[in-house]
Amino acid sequence: MSYGPKPSPVVDEVVRLARLIETEGMFNPDVMAEISKMYERARDGTAQLLNVTSSEIALTRHVSEGMNIVASGLNWSPGDEVIISDEEHQGGSIPWMNLARRAGITVRLLHMSYDLDSLLLELDSLINARTRIVSLSHVSTRSGFLLPAKEITEFVHSRGVPIVLDGAHAVGLVPVDLKDIGCDFYSGCGHKWLLAPQGTGFLYVSKDRFEGLELTSVGANTALNWDLSNLIFDAKTDAEKFEYGTRDLTVYAGLSVALDLAEEVGIDNISYRSSHLAGLMKSKVADMNGFDLITPMDASVSTGIVAVTSRMEKAENLTDRLWQDHRILVTGKDQWVRISFPYFTLEEEVDRVAEAIDANA
Ligand SMILES: Cc1ncc(COP(=O)(O)O)c(C=O)c1O
Repeated sequence: MSYGPKPSPVVDEVVRLARLIETEGMFNPDVMAEISKMYERARDGTAQLLNVTSSEIALTRHVSEGMNIVASGLNWSPGDEVIISDEEHQGGSIPWMNLARRAGITVRLLHMSYDLDSLLLELDSLINARTRIVSLSHVSTRSGFLLPAKEITEFVHSRGVPIVLDGAHAVGLVPVDLKDIGCDFYSGCGHKWLLAPQGTGFLYVSKDRFEGLELTSVGANTALNWDLSNLIFDAKTDAEKFEYGTRDLTVYAGLSVALDLAEEVGIDNISYRSSHLAGLMKSKVADMNGFDLITPMDASVSTGIVAVTSRMEKAENLTDRLWQDHRILVTGKDQWVRISFPYFTLEEEVDRVAEAIDANA
């Protein structure tokens, strides 16, 4: 899902706070207190969802921002290497490609395999003494493959290398326990499966990494102490130090409400339901002529995303046709079409999508 629809309580909260700010003024102490409370609630709720401490969460605006904080905050030497997979999104790959341009690092492309042993073998063949970090999607934007994140993290750590996970398609769709996974950094967003407003992201930085990750974008709100006459400042010490400048705080209030809703429904229920719906769709695609399923059938390594390729129709045609003729929105890229099944999708709607896809077969 590129952008999740926002439930009314989420929209209402954003609108309520926007009105409050515009009528009472942002610097009205009562307004400031209320907005700050919601902002910190969003941080606490995110931390709780990911099973980490609030001090390890920086609220960002999107996944790309978190990836950039990590990519630019490590110290690089020419010839250093980064491993990413061939299923990364632009947000999880361009920050590294840009470093290749600016800092002379080498980006190595891991061919994604949906089989853990093959994946570990492939990783093993790419990791070497110059590898500085591995960067992979927790859930693939292309196939919906659910990375065995804990096993991969353990393997990468056993080779002395840190790992950052791109959680754009995982958070709000599957349970994400970062203490269990053990990764070093995790960049996610609210605006996809969590059904929060656009412009709500978060970056988990493990406590052990606070010191090693340099601040590269700084300014208002960076410092604990600031002395202009002596030109010195002390930055905040936890993950909050990666937040800087004025931003729209109302959307984080929306994130906070979206987190409450996700908790109310239960992330296990959400995951189970989305997976069930995707399973129905996968069985239908498997029975269709002219379509290939990219997403693994195995529910333990897939989610509520189903990606297919058509042997008869270009992905853009199929995407356009579904929208023009059926008002069904899917994402079509290169050769594949990605269909997302959020938990509130009805079973009849799965049938409708399948019939619409198969219409030209
Ligand atoms: C896997 C993945 N990573 C990163 C992004 C970019 O996210 P953002 O716009 O929040 O930076 C996306 C967006 O679709 C994505 O699917």
